Amino acid sequence: MTSNTDLRSIRVWDLPTRVFHVLLIAAVAGLFITSEIGGDLMKFHFWFGYGVLSLVFFRVIWGLLGGHWSRFVNFLPTPAQLLAYINNIRHGSHTPTVGHNPMGALSVFAMLVVLMLQVFSGLMSDDEISNAGPWTSWVASDWVSWATNFHKEIGSNALIALLFLHVASVLYYKYFKSEDLLTPMLKGDKVLPSDTPASRDSTTSRLFALGVWLGCAYAVFRLVNWASSGLDL
Ligand code: HEM
Ligand code: HEM
Repeated sequence: MTSNTDLRSIRVWDLPTRVFHVLLIAAVAGLFITSEIGGDLMKFHFWFGYGVLSLVFFRVIWGLLGGHWSRFVNFLPTPAQLLAYINNIRHGSHTPTVGHNPMGALSVFAMLVVLMLQVFSGLMSDDEISNAGPWTSWVASDWVSWATNFHKEIGSNALIALLFLHVASVLYYKYFKSEDLLTPMLKGDKVLPSDTPASRDSTTSRLFALGVWLGCAYAVFRLVNWASSGLDL
């Protein structure tokens, strides 16, 4: 059993993970606002979508190379861990986890997958008036209508449902389980037993993250221009 004197502030969410989260929120908000207003703003809708894709690529790489608690191996639950966690919650007991809890981890993955599907379907979407994604000219027309339908009806609603669940869970933990998840996601640290491994978050690792993101942005640029082989962004 750890005594209180053994508690100290430990870096859990490194700066790149926190910046990723803020930028993702801004870009997703931008996507829903621009699609709602439409018209000339659809140009920005595309750009926000490319931004989201670069962030999702970044997070996948950061899940392999990032700080300890941002790595997938340190929060991907086994089925047994997931069931045990759900059982605990159902019986009213709750043990806070250092990184994402097993349910939160699954929702992170679900969000990354749906965001990625939403961007790829967007690349092939066509409103048949004035906005067509950059891949519409080279994929078969039934792909275009399937992707447009997915983009407008399935992907965007799945994302809204996941986001609703996401925010509701954060509020649930705060008000029903007295666990504040938001402050660590903004400031980085949690008060934990002093032998808890900390996430690396040095100037070097932050610069490395920036380099990784720039590489991801370049990969998105190439993907978007795949059809036109390179230079008309
Ligand atoms: C467009 C809206 C949002 C998206 C797409 C989003 C997405 C995500 C993702 C992908 C993560 C995982 C972070 C990582 O490991 O890299 C995360 C974590 C988190 N988000 Fe959001 N988020 C959104 C809005 C919000 C809002 C409005 C709040 C505030 C209530 C919030 C609070 C949190 C918290 C507290 C965590 C950490 C959860 C934990 O400790 O397990 N998010 N979010
Ligand atoms: C996570 C990323 C994205 C989200 C959440 C998103 C969300 C949306 C939403 C909610 C709509 C409106 C649907 C409606 O009018 O009922 C829409 C429309 C559209 N989006 Fe996206 N989008 C994303 C990425 C993209 C990308 C990357 C592109 C193209 C490169 C794109 C192209 C389009 C087009 C062409 C439409 C109009 C479809 C139509 O009205 O028939 N989207 N998007």
